[in-house]
Amino acid sequence: MKKVLQLCSLCILLLVSTGYGMSNNEVLQMIEKKLFGKLSNGSEIFAYTLKNQNGMTAEIINYGAIVVSLTAPDRNGKFEDIVHGYDNIDSYVVDKNYFGCIVGRYGNRIGKGKFLLEGKVYQLGINNGENHLHGGETGFSKRVWSAEPIESETDPALKLTYVSKDGEEGYPGTVTITVVYTLTKNNELKIEYTGTTDKTTVFNPTHHSYFNLSGNMNTTILDHELEINADKTTPVDNELITTGKYADVANTPMDFRLPKKIGKDINADYEQLKFGLGYDHNWVINGYNKKVNRVASLYEAGSGRYMEVYSDQPGLQFYSGNFLNGSVAGKKGIKYQYRSALCLETQCFPDSPNKPQFPSAILKPGDVYKQTTIYKFSTK
Ligand code: BGC
Repeated sequence: MKKVLQLCSLCILLLVSTGYGMSNNEVLQMIEKKLFGKLSNGSEIFAYTLKNQNGMTAEIINYGAIVVSLTAPDRNGKFEDIVHGYDNIDSYVVDKNYFGCIVGRYGNRIGKGKFLLEGKVYQLGINNGENHLHGGETGFSKRVWSAEPIESETDPALKLTYVSKDGEEGYPGTVTITVVYTLTKNNELKIEYTGTTDKTTVFNPTHHSYFNLSGNMNTTILDHELEINADKTTPVDNELITTGKYADVANTPMDFRLPKKIGKDINADYEQLKFGLGYDHNWVINGYNKKVNRVASLYEAGSGRYMEVYSDQPGLQFYSGNFLNGSVAGKKGIKYQYRSALCLETQCFPDSPNKPQFPSAILKPGDVYKQTTIYKFSTK
């Protein structure tokens, strides 16, 4: 194996490996590390760019474990960035959209930020009306993680670790989370989570990239065709807190069992869509068996880009970017408009700490939480 180390003024190229032994031309797999910016306290934040042998890239920073950019080829082989994000760290620090991050400790809302666990009531930080959203004001998405590039002949990866102290945002227990992002040779962004705790707690991390497969962030996602392998959703109230009930998708705008344009029913006169200002709900994945299964797909006909989502989680939050309103300038100064991107967040159900009928998100000392989610890219 040939090892190369290059230094340049702006970046350090971390050699991962060469393609020695591969059948075609020599392919150099690299993880590039460069300074992304500094926090106000002087902490340096680095960007790591994973590149696979097909030319796909994923740029990830050790702040919030955020995917800043993700490139994928269209049907003509043209690579474009297909996620929302910012060019600078200051914008991520004040961001309220959770662009590209790992959300935690608990993805989505916990009603009134309160729950009972082993006989004790815990009060979490309130950061969304009267409720707790995405781990609170300073959740995992606003923390500095440690980062470790993982060498691989074919599948460059980055391992990120964060230790969340006992009592952080009101949650019990010191939790250690690791997230490994791998860009595979099959054009997948694979996300593997592990979590441990020293006291019983609740734990439900997820990934929050905003996708627009056209690569043109001045467009909306209303023409994207979405399919979700789910017969039911968990309806919400007017504060977007799950009611604890299940609802059939059949004969409703929530039916994505066959691929459907997102714009087809999004403005229907339907109470759940009024509450969410569009889609902002959890779908109950059919045949949940704790194994990695195909849960959803997304297709954009203009570019031909096709994304499949695989996950071992019981739920999927489909959020159609209803709170984007053109007020923040993202990468290249683009003001991200209403419904210009969407999230597909693999998760346990929202507010499950208060809904015993939902799958449990309780994590106990000695247990190891594991999640695998894969976003797989191809073209049609
Ligand atoms: C939630 C939305 C929330 C958004 C924040 C989504 O995951 O479902 O309700 O507004 O994140 O960016």
